Amino acid sequence: MSTTSTKTLENLSVESRRFPPPEDFAAQAVATAELYEEAAADRLAFWAKQARERLSWETDFTETLDWSDPPFAKWFVGGRLNAAYNCVDRHVEAGNGDRVAIHWEGEPGDTRTLTYADLQREVSKAANAFAALGVGQGDRVAVYLPMIPEAAITMLACARLGAAHSVVFGGFSADALRSRIEDAEATLVVTADGGYRRGAPSALKPAVDAALEAGGASVKDVVVVRRTEQDVEWTEGRDHWWHDVVDSASEEHTAEAFDSENPLYILYTSGTTGKPKGILHTTGGYLTQVAYTHATVFDLRPETDVYWCAADVGWVTGHSYVVYGPLANGATQVMYEGTPDTPHKGRWWEICAKYGVTILYAAPTAIRTFMKWGEEIPGEHDLSSIRLLGSVGEPINPEAWVWYRRVIGGDTAPIVDTWWQTETGGMMISPLPGVTTLKPGSAQVPLPGISAAVVDDEGNPVGPGGGGYLVLTEPWPSMLRTIWGDDQRFKDTYWSRFPGRYFAGDGAKLDEDGDVWLLGRVDDVMNVSGHRLSTTEIESALVSHPAVAEAAVVGATDDMTGQAPVAFVILRGNADAVLGDTDPQEALRAHVAKEIGAIAKPKRVLVVQELPKTRSGKIMRRLLRDVAENRELGDVTTLTDAGVMGLIQDGLKGAK
Ligand code: WTA
Repeated sequence: MSTTSTKTLENLSVESRRFPPPEDFAAQAVATAELYEEAAADRLAFWAKQARERLSWETDFTETLDWSDPPFAKWFVGGRLNAAYNCVDRHVEAGNGDRVAIHWEGEPGDTRTLTYADLQREVSKAANAFAALGVGQGDRVAVYLPMIPEAAITMLACARLGAAHSVVFGGFSADALRSRIEDAEATLVVTADGGYRRGAPSALKPAVDAALEAGGASVKDVVVVRRTEQDVEWTEGRDHWWHDVVDSASEEHTAEAFDSENPLYILYTSGTTGKPKGILHTTGGYLTQVAYTHATVFDLRPETDVYWCAADVGWVTGHSYVVYGPLANGATQVMYEGTPDTPHKGRWWEICAKYGVTILYAAPTAIRTFMKWGEEIPGEHDLSSIRLLGSVGEPINPEAWVWYRRVIGGDTAPIVDTWWQTETGGMMISPLPGVTTLKPGSAQVPLPGISAAVVDDEGNPVGPGGGGYLVLTEPWPSMLRTIWGDDQRFKDTYWSRFPGRYFAGDGAKLDEDGDVWLLGRVDDVMNVSGHRLSTTEIESALVSHPAVAEAAVVGATDDMTGQAPVAFVILRGNADAVLGDTDPQEALRAHVAKEIGAIAKPKRVLVVQELPKTRSGKIMRRLLRDVAENRELGDVTTLTDAGVMGLIQDGLKGAK
C-alpha cells in the first residue's frame, strides 16, 4: 500500500471531528434518508425510477438490467433516447430556454453567456457541420480543446449524432494524442489554435499536426476553433475553421434517438501497464447516474443555484460534472478557462463572488494550494453565496477539509467528499449533504443504489475497523462497459482479482461506524494533483530516451500534489555523448513532457548505478519510495543483492 495510505491512516486515528448537517439545510434537502431505504428495498426498481424520472426517453425500456453475460452489463434495455436532447432541447421545450446554462470566463477576462436556447442553436449547428463532414452514429471524434464553450458544444454535438467522442486533455503531448486517435480510429479531430494558460496563449494545433504527421491515418478532417489567433499551419482539404463550417450551418437539427447502450464516449485513463485504457461509457445508464448524483449529492436547485465544477473537460470529472450531469439537470454553471493564479491568486474567489456561486466542486490539490497561499486571499472576496462544497480526485486530508469548510464555506457549508473513477462514470461513495454527519477525510457511505465492500486478500468482507481493498459488489448504471477494443483486458483488470466483484484498485478501511476511508491506489498507478498516471507509462517514456538504460518510477508523497513522480534511472555507457552538456535531470524531465505531457514530468530524476530487484526480477518500488521520501528502508530480505540499496543511498548523498 502506498505511503499516502500510511499518512491517511495516521490522520484517521486522530480524526474525531463531526459535522452534522445544518438544520435548515437538512429541512429542505433534495435527498433525504428515505432514499437509502427505497434503494435497499428494491435496487433495480430504484434505478428504473431514477431513469424514468430524470430523463426523457423516446422509447421506454423493457428491462432495467441485463446481467446475463457478466461482466458485460446492459442497462435500460430496449430504451431509446438522445443524450444531447436530454441535456439541452428538453429544457428549452419546458420553457427554460432563457436560463443561463454556462457563464463562461476566459482567462484574459473575456466572457460569454450561453442560455439553454443559445446552447441548443450552437449544438445543432455543430451537429449539422460534423454530419456534413460525414460523422454519424458509430463513429469516433477526437476532441483536443481548451476549456471553452466549444468543448461542451462539441461533445453534445457528437452525442446528438450518436458518435462517440474521445476527449484528450489539452496538456497531453502530440504522441499521447496520436496513440489515442489511433486506438479509437477517430475520423474527425476537433481542436483550437490554442487556449490561454498563465497569462499567455498556449498552442494546441501544432500537436494535432504532429500527431497526424506521425500517424492517425483514420482522420479525414480537423475542425479548428479560433481562440488565441496564433498562426497555425494549415492542411488544405483536411483542416476547416470552426467559424467557417459551424457558423454557416443550419440552426435546425432533429435529434434522433439511439439505443440506451449506444456508445457515448471513450476516455483514456492510465492503468498498470504502459498502454492507456480506453474506458467506454454508453448512453442511458451513464446519463441516469450522473443526473441522479449531480442532483442529490449537490442538493441541486436548478432555478436558483450557480454551480461550478473547476475540472477540465479532459478528465472524467469534466465529462460527468461539467457537461452531462449539470446540463441533464438544467443547471446554471460557471466554466473557467484558465489557471487559479492568473492574473492574481484570488481569481477563483473573484469568479465565485461575481457569479454568486452556490456550489463549488474542486480537487484537494487545489485546496491545499489555496491553503498555502493564505486565507487572506479568499478573505478579500464575498463568498457568502456558497452553500455546499465538493471534493474529488484523491483523499482529502482532514486539515484541508476543515480549512475548506471554514474559509471557503463560511463555517457552515457541508462538504461532500465524493469517491469515484473514470471507470465508474459517476459518484459512488459520498455523503448526502442533508443527511450524513460528516467526518473530515472520509467519503463515508455508498450512495443509495450503490453496493460496495472492503475485502481482505482472500476476498472476504472485513467488518468495522478492518482494512483491505475496495470492491463494488453489484453492477451500477454508469459503469464502464468495456475497455475499447479489449474485452479481455476489461475482465482481467477489474473482474478477476475478486471474481464476480469489481476491483477498484484502491485500498480502503472501515471505521467503527462502518464508514469508508479511502487510502490511495494499491497498484502502480499514482495520483498527481488528482490526475492518474501510471508508473509504467513514465518508465516507458524514460527508457525511450537514448541515454537511458533502465528506469523505475515511484509516486512519492508530496504536500501539494498528493503524490509526485520520482524517477530512478540507470544511464547508458554512451550517455555523456548523447547528453553533451545538458543536465540529465533536465533532459529527462523534458523528454517525459514531450512523450506524455507536462503533468507526467518527474519531480526529481535520480541517476543510480543499480536498481533494487527481487529474485524474480521485479523492481522493488516500495524501497525506492522509501528513498524518495527520505524514510528508513523497509524489509530488504527479498532483494537479490541487499547491498544495492546502500549503494543507491550513498550515491544520492549530496544529490538534491
Ligand atoms: C482517487 C476521478 C479518495 C482514487 C473522479 C480513484 C479518490 C482515482 C477520491 C480515480 C476521493 C477519486 N477520495 N480517493 N474522494 N476520488 N479518488 O479515474 O484513487 O481520474 O481510484 O477519476 O482517484 O481517478 P480518476
